[in-house]
Amino acid sequence: MAKATHNVFYNCRESSTNRPYFLQNKANFKKAQMNLNYYFQKDYENESALSGQQNKAKQTQSFDSAQDRFQTQRTLCEFFLFFTFLCPSYNLVMQTWTIQKLLNWVVEYFTNKGVDSPRLSAELLLSHVVGLKRIELYTQFDKPVTKQQLDKLHELVKRAGQHEPIAYLTGKAEFYSLQFNVTPDCMIPRPETELLAERAIEFLRTRSGTQFVCDLCTGCCCIAVAIAKNASGAQIIATDISDAALRVAAANVEKYQLKDRIELLQGDLFDPIMPALDVEKLVPDSDRGFDLIVCNPPYVSAPEFEALDKNVKDYEPKLALHAGDNGLDIYRRICEKVDQFLKPDAALMLEIGFAQGQVIKELLKKAGAFAEIKIEKDLHNNDRIATARKRSP
Ligand SMILES: C[S@@+](CC[C@H](N)C(=O)[O-])C[C@H]1O[C@@H](n2cnc3c(N)ncnc32)[C@H](O)[C@@H]1O
Repeated sequence: MAKATHNVFYNCRESSTNRPYFLQNKANFKKAQMNLNYYFQKDYENESALSGQQNKAKQTQSFDSAQDRFQTQRTLCEFFLFFTFLCPSYNLVMQTWTIQKLLNWVVEYFTNKGVDSPRLSAELLLSHVVGLKRIELYTQFDKPVTKQQLDKLHELVKRAGQHEPIAYLTGKAEFYSLQFNVTPDCMIPRPETELLAERAIEFLRTRSGTQFVCDLCTGCCCIAVAIAKNASGAQIIATDISDAALRVAAANVEKYQLKDRIELLQGDLFDPIMPALDVEKLVPDSDRGFDLIVCNPPYVSAPEFEALDKNVKDYEPKLALHAGDNGLDIYRRICEKVDQFLKPDAALMLEIGFAQGQVIKELLKKAGAFAEIKIEKDLHNNDRIATARKRSP
């Protein structure tokens, strides 16, 4: 099936070469339109083919009828081309794919495929491919798109239609109004996590001097970078168990020129911090502890993991999502040890799952280190942040 799709595409392209130039342009436009139709039509049929042998006959039939349709469109196209020869201004306007036409096309395709936020996704992909900001797509609606850009867009649109996350396709994600590099080695930062960054920044701004911060489970380093950019006294150690995620984190630290403010360490939770605290190199004058520990750990339970959307479950690292049968493994381990890493009156801030507030509160109480424990909900009224303030001496 895939081969047939490409044959249609290439035959169609080659057949225009004997025509006069103005007709070739017109023809290329119509053909590009048909090519996209066929690309996506065939992609759809290919996917259906995976669903079982009994669909095979139906698809062959559908392919035949698609070919018939193609022939009819082609005949109409010949007639249309003759008309455009008589009407050059129409020819000028219609001769190529523009940003507007592509945007409309991709939005419709994504809507049919059930892709999340079809317009936003289409804008992100298109702006990535043509090298414009999203807002510039709307100020340059009539800008033509080159053949190379069209090819690249097709490839990405097809993958997005199979629910590959847009952020992995573009290699970029926005968090706290900053742009981060992301790859499938790290989780894509979520808007909900901005509340954790916000609370951390507010807390640090109430304090003076250098503030020693630890970002456990840093992933692409979005929380640590957001803190460093918005709390000038923050000196941060960011850790992750995944080497591959830390490589992405390093690229982001480099991008924002924060190497002197953010130290990246690889290892299991607090393990890599122990030697750093021992030598007092990374946290000088610190009472051997942090002013703030933030963490957005994996917190998805086993049944929740099975029920995750395809674009999360099949593409984002399981290590970043899943935390034991009930999703509490990492919180438990943090609560067991956190006391020794916090200065008096310091804070621990955790992102938590939508219904984990009560159980996390209990875990924090059991830790016995905190004078004050607060659970905060997000804008959707889900439990989102746990803040615990360590006792003063
Ligand atoms: C939910 S992601 C959060 C990433 C990032 N902080 C964010 O908010 O987008 C959790 C991260 O924890 C890391 N991780 C999982 N288990 C860990 C462990 N035992 N010790 C340290 N990091 C761990 C994963 O590699 C992943 O990068």
